[in-house]
Amino acid sequence: MEKTEKLKVAVLFGGCSSEYAISLQSAYAVLQHLDGERYLPVPIGITRQGQWMRYEGGIEKIPRDTWLQDPLCHPVVVLPGHETGALMEWGPAGPSQVAVDVALPMLHGKNGEDGTVQGLLELAGIPYAGCGVLSSALGMDKDLAHRVAAQSGVAVPRSEVIFKEDRPEHWARSGRAVGYPLFCKPARGGSSLGITQVENPAALACAVREALEQDDKVVLEAAVPGFEVGCAILGRGGALTMGVVDEIELADGFLDYGEKYHRSTAKVHTPARLDADTAQRIQNTAAQVYRALDCRGFARVDLFLTPKGEIVFNEVNTLPGMTAASRFPKMLEAAGISFSEMLDRILAEAVRP
Ligand SMILES: Nc1ncnc2c1ncn2[C@@H]1O[C@H](COP(=O)(O)OP(=O)(O)O)[C@@H](O)[C@H]1O
Ligand SMILES: [Mg+2]
Repeated sequence: MEKTEKLKVAVLFGGCSSEYAISLQSAYAVLQHLDGERYLPVPIGITRQGQWMRYEGGIEKIPRDTWLQDPLCHPVVVLPGHETGALMEWGPAGPSQVAVDVALPMLHGKNGEDGTVQGLLELAGIPYAGCGVLSSALGMDKDLAHRVAAQSGVAVPRSEVIFKEDRPEHWARSGRAVGYPLFCKPARGGSSLGITQVENPAALACAVREALEQDDKVVLEAAVPGFEVGCAILGRGGALTMGVVDEIELADGFLDYGEKYHRSTAKVHTPARLDADTAQRIQNTAAQVYRALDCRGFARVDLFLTPKGEIVFNEVNTLPGMTAASRFPKMLEAAGISFSEMLDRILAEAVRP
């Protein structure tokens, strides 16, 4: 039988982002689950300073963050020009081209989930998995994502925007307009970094300063009662595959960085403890947001379910966490789609002519 050539998949990991460490875990899980019969992985590490490296060492050094010390690690750059579809590596023997068929960015947050890397890959003529430039950039900006979702008829929390240049009088006015309790967030953050639940006006200034350390645009959002649910989506337009809806159960407070990655008191229920009708309404709303933001490939849409049964959009993660314990693969697994099958689907969609 004729053997078809393996698809060369550049798995991008690390990155100049506060979520560097999570990205290493996601990339490791992806590299473990890529079917070796069908794919030739080309791991590309991006340092915290933003330098791109071709990494040919053992994949177990990636989650331990010792990959950069391995001698099998050489600088690589993306070559602009639509015909090349290649990277240029500087190895011991001098420069050489590294051909890739498709890129799989496993980068979370800034400089990876926000459309910048996607733009670079577009210019280089390298097909890539997941959301494009616009949907990535929109998904990253919690304010703009809400505006687009609201335009499509989805409920969003009442909110106000603060820019770095605004004076503290404006902060206080915005806080009053939103009402307390509220959430103060960097507009383009992730992993709950810089987010504070603000109970009263006296606590606002400190929270805004903390958020401004992460981003020069800050969002104040009315706290939505109830709990958070999520929905994993694959595909594009009218051909979407949905995972089961999951549910975050919080003991108190909100899903901060520690709870997200260590879950000492927060619990994730997959599937959510909801009746079928409510789960279906959540999936429909998630799909509506996904389509409105022009997402493709895959994304996780997070929403709140209020005690009155209202569904309110929180955020879309265009590069959700992808470790085997992450919510995204678990929601698909519960719908009968394994981690490897999920990768097959998103890569097939990326290279489809
Ligand atoms: N408007 C809100 N109402 C209630 N809880 C919120 C609100 N916004 C955020 N949260 C809580 O804060 C967590 C982190 O906020 P989120 O906007 O999802 O940021 P991140 O991108 O860092 O995940 C959420 O998972 C939720 O627990
Ligand atoms: Mg979130």
